[in-house]
Amino acid sequence: MSRWAITGTTGFIGPKLCRLVCDRGDEVVALTRPGSSSSTTDLTGVRICPTDLLDVAAIRRAIRGCDVVVHLAAPRRLPGKSRGSAPGSRGFLVITEACRALLEAAAEVGASKFVLASSTSVYGRPWGEVTESSPLKPQSEYARARLTGERLSLSTGARVGVCVTIVRLSGVYGPGSIPLRPLLAKVTAGGFRVVGDGRQIHQTIHVEDAARALDASGRGGRTSSETVLVSGARSSLREWLDEMATAAGVSVRYTPWLGLPARLALRGVPGLIGSRRLASLDYQLRPRAYAIEHSLELFGNYHQVSLGDAMAELVGERHAALP
Ligand SMILES: NC(=O)c1ccc[n+]([C@@H]2O[C@H](COP(=O)([O-])OP(=O)(O)OC[C@H]3O[C@@H](n4cnc5c(N)ncnc54)[C@H](OP(=O)(O)O)[C@@H]3O)[C@@H](O)[C@H]2O)c1
Repeated sequence: MSRWAITGTTGFIGPKLCRLVCDRGDEVVALTRPGSSSSTTDLTGVRICPTDLLDVAAIRRAIRGCDVVVHLAAPRRLPGKSRGSAPGSRGFLVITEACRALLEAAAEVGASKFVLASSTSVYGRPWGEVTESSPLKPQSEYARARLTGERLSLSTGARVGVCVTIVRLSGVYGPGSIPLRPLLAKVTAGGFRVVGDGRQIHQTIHVEDAARALDASGRGGRTSSETVLVSGARSSLREWLDEMATAAGVSVRYTPWLGLPARLALRGVPGLIGSRRLASLDYQLRPRAYAIEHSLELFGNYHQVSLGDAMAELVGERHAALP
């Protein structure tokens, strides 16, 4: 049996990861935000330990006896808003300095592994397929903070002798996803119109599969630090939205003739920050394609949720929430 310390356990992915680890018979210590009003009812069997993630001594006390530390905590993302990650802000420090604090405490208690949930946002907005070695071009405060946190983790891990795995997650979806709500509402209302034909790759990962990949990254006998891309099976945006619409008994309309001019216009825009309309256009036109062969090799096949089942569940959850 091993003992895991996990941050961000009250978020979207955290409870799923805690469940996987506990169901296997391993122990979980949840480092929750002191004063957090988030519910911990999903965390049955987990030891809750409110801990300041910048306080090495407090972390050391909380994670004594742990073998693995997984850092999921990050400022929350709400629909239409960017994550608060301005340099020097609390959100920034949780993504950056907390990595150093967690790793130093991990080394002091003899934990051998540190997993950081990072994000494909570090690649910016490429039009082609992304691999682990694609150029890094973070274009938001959040993405820049992410990259700083990754680098800090790798350098601190090397200094204190803890193996670091950076897991760069693509967009994660599933029941309970707050950022997905506006799109879900529009599609399930029927008649949603997409700019372009929606045939570009749109690779996202179901929250249960993301938790499975994170779980696998904390297990196994790896001893060298590395960075891994994690996403779901490939589908096009059209397949993705059509599955959602079908589950709701409606359809989506595509406008292929608008695709090329809109794509050309979008390519001329240097950044999307602050513009909700441009961000929505970007979502409808830009491919999201990730080479995930390395993670499948390392972690085994972590894809277990089919797109059809996932969309049926999402739409069911939305219908249940309607008055
Ligand atoms: N979801 C995605 O699509 C996605 C994609 C790529 C990467 N990721 C990364 O994966 C990780 C988990 O994502 P998620 O979607 O599960 O996140 P989430 O739902 O936004 O939850 C964030 C978690 O971090 C905690 N947190 C925030 N500020 C904190 C602080 N100052 N001290 C301690 N804990 C704090 C929150 O606690 P409270 O409940 O107290 O607020 C919550 O448990 C994050 O690092 C995220 O950036 C997510």
